[in-house]
Amino acid sequence: MTTTVLVLNGPNLGRLGSREPDVYGAQDLDALRAVLEADAGDDLRIDLRQTDDESELVSWLHGAVDSRTPVILNPAAFTHYSYALRDAAALVTKAGIPLIEVHISNPHARETFRHTSVISGIATGVIAGFGFGSYRLALQSLRYTS
Ligand code: DQA
Repeated sequence: MTTTVLVLNGPNLGRLGSREPDVYGAQDLDALRAVLEADAGDDLRIDLRQTDDESELVSWLHGAVDSRTPVILNPAAFTHYSYALRDAAALVTKAGIPLIEVHISNPHARETFRHTSVISGIATGVIAGFGFGSYRLALQSLRYTS
């Protein structure tokens, strides 16, 4: 059986590759998709999406609840203040579906406003600071949580 994994990316992550490469690296989302697809093997299918729109991200999380699809979520700047996203993410984990919060950088080693995550408290787990490796580790972790 093939399990789909939703890999959801929040605002400004569509600019990966050119956005602050010293912080986020020089590779773009297509490169991330290729890396995750290579890791996924035959049993997992990667559905990677990005939006700058909070309401779209919330709808995708509602869809994950309805289809019982595990989620890897990089909420980007929404991490630090979006209670709407937190509540939507809580719907996922309260339904018993894993949701792993990931960050390319380590927010705790950056500006103070990045030290707060309103998502972490309801996430299944959090992986940060390993570049695209954060997503790869999250994908691996799903093999233990789902
Ligand atoms: C980020 C960290 C956030 O603080 C920032 O707003 C992002 C990306 C990361 O992946 O390191 O957009 O989530």
